[in-house]
Amino acid sequence: MIYLGSDHGGFKLKESIKSFLDNKNIKYEDMGTHNEESCDYPDIAKIVANQVAEKNALGILVCGTGIGMSIAANKIKGIRAALCHNEYTAEMARKHNDANILCLGGRVLQKDIALKIVDIFINTEFDGGRHKRRVDKIMEIQDGC
Ligand code: RB5
Repeated sequence: MIYLGSDHGGFKLKESIKSFLDNKNIKYEDMGTHNEESCDYPDIAKIVANQVAEKNALGILVCGTGIGMSIAANKIKGIRAALCHNEYTAEMARKHNDANILCLGGRVLQKDIALKIVDIFINTEFDGGRHKRRVDKIMEIQDGC
């Protein structure tokens, strides 16, 4: 299950991501927003990030730049949200950072690149090993250690 969310700035790209996932028979839940009316990205980031943390799932958040969504999502315990701009950063976000939320900029990325990023993000596994030690250190910071 992939939890999806966007604000108005990411709405169109989120719709394209839904079509992409439909074509691949990948299950998702759209947590909003459901139209292009202006809304506040932290509200959506909070809903999606809480679901991802609780269900140990993956999420995708889209706003105009992806920046606000990533800042907001990373405030939730257990979340490693990565703002990705290309295929390489998407691959590394999973392999090295064990990112559980992909953040995208709907006003930054062309649709075909964005969908390639999504494809790579959801199909790449965490490498573990030395990267696990580093990710564990990130989570220790979160726990105040
Ligand atoms: C909304 O205008 C815009 O600020 C938002 O989509 C996002 O880019 C914030 O980081």
